[in-house]
Amino acid sequence: DASDIEKGTYPHYMLKEIEEQPLVIRKIIQAYRNERGELAVDPEIQRALHEADRIYIIACGTSYHAGLVGKHYLEKLAKIPVEVHLSSEFAYQMPLISEKPLFIFISQSGETADSRAVLVKVKELGYPALTITNVPGSTLSREADYTLLLHAGPEIAVASTKAYTAQLAVLAVLAEVIAKSRSRQSGVDMARELGIVANAMETVCGSKDEFEQIAREYLDSAQNAFFIGRTLDYAVCLEGALKLKEISYIHAEGFAAGELKHGPIALIEDGTPVFALATQARVNLNIRGNVKEVVARGANPCIISMDGLAQDGDRFILPEVHPLLTPLISVIPLQYIAYYAALHRGCDVDKPRNLAKSVTVE
Ligand code: G6P
Repeated sequence: DASDIEKGTYPHYMLKEIEEQPLVIRKIIQAYRNERGELAVDPEIQRALHEADRIYIIACGTSYHAGLVGKHYLEKLAKIPVEVHLSSEFAYQMPLISEKPLFIFISQSGETADSRAVLVKVKELGYPALTITNVPGSTLSREADYTLLLHAGPEIAVASTKAYTAQLAVLAVLAEVIAKSRSRQSGVDMARELGIVANAMETVCGSKDEFEQIAREYLDSAQNAFFIGRTLDYAVCLEGALKLKEISYIHAEGFAAGELKHGPIALIEDGTPVFALATQARVNLNIRGNVKEVVARGANPCIISMDGLAQDGDRFILPEVHPLLTPLISVIPLQYIAYYAALHRGCDVDKPRNLAKSVTVE
């Protein structure tokens, strides 16, 4: 309940929740350690993943965006094929289901009606379900076979921030635990890498004045804003655009940078703000090329890159983290930029118009 949670010295819950992210990641590392100090999950959950020939992630909104990143983790590390679906679409157009599916519901609140409708169908069909949620005892947690908790603490602001990075961290832990139990040797020391992420998050939060400046420069008089990226950066761009439109009401879209030429580039005009993420070595040259293409059409680019991949003119350089974990870091500037853009426009940051924290109608 919002009235029980103090904002402390923070003017808004959203700002407080953005800045709690390093702490939440450290809590998750602690919560998922066993007596031997290794990352672990309930053995029954481990078994459920081992038995699955395919995972179906079902979620809405920001949780769906976390699922898009989680697919990369589960496929890369645990080597299980994953499909990610919007609850409201899946409910009315079920794809072909594999022989041994496992359903993973991602929901901060654990109460979203669209997701629950799918869970009810999935249970009727007799399939196993795991819920990843911030709220113990929530409906989606009670009705699923298994639960993994986010340990993010209550999230009050309607725009989700710390729950998103917590979802990514829990999905990374889950993927890594499965990877280890399969091969006994895995490339990633996830507890250590997440510790590095928590420190990097602190560094990024220390630059919030810079993000306020970026919001002022790029968005104070903007009508539209685009977020472009490739692979994992693309998933984060969808989340960055959602944050901005939710609370500042600026029309914002996230695009796969390679698709710009197939349509979206027609939208670029003189001065159109384009936020570009460049945290992935494999596509660094490609995204740089895409930025040149939009700049040639008049765009005002704001490139957020990562140490090691940065080039002259990049507007912000993130500290280096494991390449799979960049979304936990690169989303933070986008959260702050949305926050300050909304603040500068006099919007109600914590309670945007037309939106609810937990949507209990289909
Ligand atoms: C609402 C909220 C979003 C959230 C979505 C899914 O639309 O405003 O911030 O991402 O529901 O919520 P859930 O609790 O299922 O993660």
